[in-house]
Amino acid sequence: MAESIPDLRRDPKDRAYAQLHAYILQVLAGIDDDVAGMATMSAFLHHALGFLWTGFYRVVSPNLLRVGPYQGSLGCLDITFGRGVCGTAAAERRTIVVPDVDRFPGHITCDSRSKSEIVVPVFNANGTLIAVLDIDSDRRAAFDDQDAEGLERIVRWFAGVGRS
Ligand code: SME
Repeated sequence: MAESIPDLRRDPKDRAYAQLHAYILQVLAGIDDDVAGMATMSAFLHHALGFLWTGFYRVVSPNLLRVGPYQGSLGCLDITFGRGVCGTAAAERRTIVVPDVDRFPGHITCDSRSKSEIVVPVFNANGTLIAVLDIDSDRRAAFDDQDAEGLERIVRWFAGVGRS
């Protein structure tokens, strides 16, 4: 499948995310498995949009995130709620866009090439936070509201939207 992931780096973001959303729903049709969903989304997003690191941190106990399926260089394993961008997004249950990681107090550096980052909370059908989607770029200010909207729409699959 990897070789059939399109290169969407030059497409307008709204179109790229709409296309990726459709592909992801198609590939995951009939699959009712969060890990398969996380792995598939990580691969699509990472290879289509050329990010540095793309993956999920799962909520494994009330205040702890642990790395889940991802693409990219070696990720940190555990992140406590409230720490770093991921832990802050988890604690505040909202998307956080960081245009310059050097200006985010407490940013956790897993890969020194990372320059900007977006973290999106992932909820299940009960509205419980089950994970965060973390994406790093080697460019500053790579992420904006369009990324936030596109990614938030894609991870609604974990809440049952488009899941069959
Ligand atoms: N930079 C993140 C940690 C995870 S890695 O980037 C993969 C943070 O500050 O939460």
